[in-house]
Amino acid sequence: MSDKTVNKGQQKVSFFRRLTHSFSQMTVETSISREAYETSRGIGIQIKNLCKSFNGQPVLKNISLEIKPGEIFSIIGASGTGKSVLLRHLAKLLKPDSGEILIDNENINFEPGVIVEQKYRYSMVFQTSALFNSLTVGENIGLWLREKDVLPERRIRRVIRDKLRLVGLEGRESMPIADLSGGMKKRVAIARSLAMNPDLIFYDEPTAELDPVTTDELARVINNLKDKVNLTTIIVSHDLNFALYLSDRVAMMHGGEIIEVGTPDEIKKSANPIVRRFLYTTTKGIQGKR
Ligand SMILES: Nc1ncnc2c1ncn2[C@@H]1O[C@H](COP(=O)(O)OP(=O)(O)OP(=O)(O)O)[C@@H](O)[C@H]1O
Ligand SMILES: [Mg+2]
Repeated sequence: MSDKTVNKGQQKVSFFRRLTHSFSQMTVETSISREAYETSRGIGIQIKNLCKSFNGQPVLKNISLEIKPGEIFSIIGASGTGKSVLLRHLAKLLKPDSGEILIDNENINFEPGVIVEQKYRYSMVFQTSALFNSLTVGENIGLWLREKDVLPERRIRRVIRDKLRLVGLEGRESMPIADLSGGMKKRVAIARSLAMNPDLIFYDEPTAELDPVTTDELARVINNLKDKVNLTTIIVSHDLNFALYLSDRVAMMHGGEIIEVGTPDEIKKSANPIVRRFLYTTTKGIQGKR
């Protein structure tokens, strides 16, 4: 193997580690058993009085929320209201100033260097998809399984095929990433997250940069997963139509606070003037129908 290949390989592993920071406690384990891998379950989250400031500026102001096992739960709100910051706390990428987060009834441990046994898996679908352009679709999806050495190669290929089918991209294993459209990249990124059989999946702005038709397709993909995979889905988005279409419940954030939580119907009927204004300006017509 040439130095160049080794370097490229090291770069990939290092990028992969950064990418998988959200399941860093998985990556410090040397292996995961096949039995553990093959069982996934939707798990619940409780956020209690979460506060976070940056440079003295409060960004999360006493956030409390409960997300039920198996729910598709969306956090919506205008730009800069703290949605991504909240999501990054759930993925342990940020530590709160105060408050707590319980996942699967256990307090998240934010202390650096403290390795706790984690009984659940979670993954994050990044806004940019963050795929390796030098790998094929199938290689991207199989990366984590091959790194963790969870399954034999034949079984990994089956997982790749199954996950591609779940996102409507059956048979595209050997396609180069560069040949994919934006919507296909997003679906491959979802398939890659699903390859670890997560109990929890986080999406940050999944519809950013997608056209309305592709957004519609993506909504259908995420919705279909609900019936086929046991997992809890958390979506952060300012795409209100998308969130209302596929969520079981929606929370609206404004200025670092949760100002409304409810089913899509309850949100549409909200009397809160900020929610009404957000509904009116982003969905035009929803207000008119009520
Ligand atoms: N690491 C950081 N350091 C300092 N300020 C930060 C940091 N991360 C986020 N912020 C600030 O926190 C606020 C909320 O940011 P956040 O990214 O959560 O917004 P958002 O609701 O996700 O917006 P958008 O819809 O545009 O993605 C912003 O004012 C942002 O500048
Ligand atoms: Mg954001």
